[in-house]
Amino acid sequence: MAGVTKDDYLALVRELQRHDHLYYVLDRPELGDADYDALYRRLREIEETHPDWVMPDSPSLRVGGAPVAAFEQVVRDVPMLSLDNTYDAAELAEFHGRVVEALPGEAVPFVVEPKIDGLGIELWYQGGLLVDAATRGDGRTGERITRNAQTIREIPLRLAEPLTFRVRGEVYFRLADFAALNEELEADGKPAFKNARNAAAGSLRLLDPSVTASRPLRVFLYHVPEGEAFAPTQWTTLERLRALGFPVCADAARCDGFEAVQAAYEKLLSRRERLPYEADGVVVKVDSYAQQRRLGATAKYPRWAIAYKFPARRATTRVRGILVQVGRTGALTPVADLEPVELSGTTVSRASLHNEDQMRALDVRIGDAVVIEKAGEIIPQVIEVLKDRRDGGEQAFAMPQRCPVCGTPAERREGEVARRCPNVRCPARVKELIRYFATRRAMDVDHLGPALVDQLVESGLVRDVADLYALTVEQLLPLERMAEKSARNVVAAIARSRAPGARTLRRLLTALGLPHVGDVMAALVAARFGRLSRLAAMSPEEAGAALEGVHRIGPEIRESLREWLAAPENGALLAKLVAAGVDPEEPAADAAAAAAAATGPLAGKKIAVTGTLGRKRDQVQRDVEAHGGVFARAVSGETDYLVAGEKVGRKKIEAAEAKGVKVIDEETLYRWMAGDLPDAPGGGPIGEPGGSNP
Ligand code: IVH
Repeated sequence: MAGVTKDDYLALVRELQRHDHLYYVLDRPELGDADYDALYRRLREIEETHPDWVMPDSPSLRVGGAPVAAFEQVVRDVPMLSLDNTYDAAELAEFHGRVVEALPGEAVPFVVEPKIDGLGIELWYQGGLLVDAATRGDGRTGERITRNAQTIREIPLRLAEPLTFRVRGEVYFRLADFAALNEELEADGKPAFKNARNAAAGSLRLLDPSVTASRPLRVFLYHVPEGEAFAPTQWTTLERLRALGFPVCADAARCDGFEAVQAAYEKLLSRRERLPYEADGVVVKVDSYAQQRRLGATAKYPRWAIAYKFPARRATTRVRGILVQVGRTGALTPVADLEPVELSGTTVSRASLHNEDQMRALDVRIGDAVVIEKAGEIIPQVIEVLKDRRDGGEQAFAMPQRCPVCGTPAERREGEVARRCPNVRCPARVKELIRYFATRRAMDVDHLGPALVDQLVESGLVRDVADLYALTVEQLLPLERMAEKSARNVVAAIARSRAPGARTLRRLLTALGLPHVGDVMAALVAARFGRLSRLAAMSPEEAGAALEGVHRIGPEIRESLREWLAAPENGALLAKLVAAGVDPEEPAADAAAAAAAATGPLAGKKIAVTGTLGRKRDQVQRDVEAHGGVFARAVSGETDYLVAGEKVGRKKIEAAEAKGVKVIDEETLYRWMAGDLPDAPGGGPIGEPGGSNP
């Protein structure tokens, strides 16, 4: 890190902020993931070496920080008002009538915005810097969620101008992200969120900001309470917010009169199913702040705005049967087979019942009349059973004790809501896993659609994801609807996903669908191992130990990874992938670190520390890891060395020695790492790792 100046650091902060804005707000990235990651890692390195430089708007805030015990309450003297609302066109006309009556002879332009179904928040900026954030709560009392808000990449940490003001908006989930989150939660045996709104609220109001950071929350800003001091109208407010770097919903419309307001509503309603976010209606606002001021507010609502809600997306139908689907992790999901019914533009014949607990709570029986709702879910859900319509002919349904596809007895682990098929060869699991493997989020293999996956598994050509890489055009040709050209496309697409540099280890780990390892965890695990062959060459114990001390990977995840690797079929799968030439790497810097870890002078040695050292403990940890050692939090029988600092009692040293642990001092450790002691335990010196040599 020699030669880095504070100006270099500040420039890096600005540059990363610019790329965040390009990527997250404008959707127009200039850098690829690997280049961005390299800049970001450099930022983290500088911040670790110069903690006093860290800026209050550093992009490193985006990863969250230490959990808090509880949220502070924020009590507002002027409460955030809520909106009057209606489902009724006549009531909307009445609202309009009241507005024009109160402003006689004036033209009244409106702004019509989607009413985003998320969680209201308020952000405070001081001199352009984000200093505080709170939820709307009940309007008067909200919760201070500043650390969590800082992890939302769309929220600028610093504005293009040094403004001091407040701005309100809505934190929400994009529907595609919501579906992916629920899939991940269900794969982990955790309860899914009922709808995108609950997912947003649940993810923002987490006491551990690093978990919030792992959730792809989004935000739209739409209201500046100080009004005219910021811009003359609502429309110009949205424009100015956008120019300042805030995400502003692009589906808002400025309307000259009532007819245009109705048309804007109709237009959004017709696009409802295709919007990337969940909107439960529109908000109609008088555009001019001068007019808003004259209209004023009642005790509860402003008189210048109203929420005009979309019709509820509910329908009533009958349960014809209950099916049980098997997911890629073996989770058994009960699904209601319904009499087909129209629900906001589509015909619905399936609804998720999530899991047996949920099914029991609803008490759904075959033959029941039920209310289903589409609340941002791809698959609608049964939300209510109309029990007063029962005639006694309904049949209760019990979750099967065996996997409905392969017949293996199903298991339900403590603390999980899902019952699972434990058979990794279960054809249903294999199909789902391969489908998932091919998705864009994972290995991104084109031309590998669900129907083809079914055929590949049923024909026995593919029994695990590694088999994909052995497929030939000749093997594919006999399959149904498989012309030579398609067969070539499939084989080429699979080959592309294996090409060196085409996919990262992170993606492959995501694609393998290990329990608890979603995209974010996969990045951390991938950074530790650098490439697949390295992970595949380790014993499950070594791999678990290598993750010790990795920020944000706790014992639960380590243990689950160790367990996964310990299953013979999984170890074999990794070896088979490597043998098939699938050996993706994590981008350069991490790979170098991992290489150092494999060959460094402390390679594989477990090192614990006690007493007061000359260097900070986390510095020692980083240095040990950079030289291939494994940093242990406590001494155990597996520890190789205990580095004893000052003021360490004899008892501690004797206890360590009794366990066969060698006790060394800090200087010896650092001389080993520097390679200037002949008795260093591992290989020789490895150059200048991170400038940490004494
Ligand atoms: S304006 C004083 N605009 O709907 C007016 N609200 O009860 C401030 N909402 O709590 C609100 N989208 O969380 C406004 N485009 C939008 C909105 C919106 C969603 C939420 C907001 C508020 C609730 C209204």
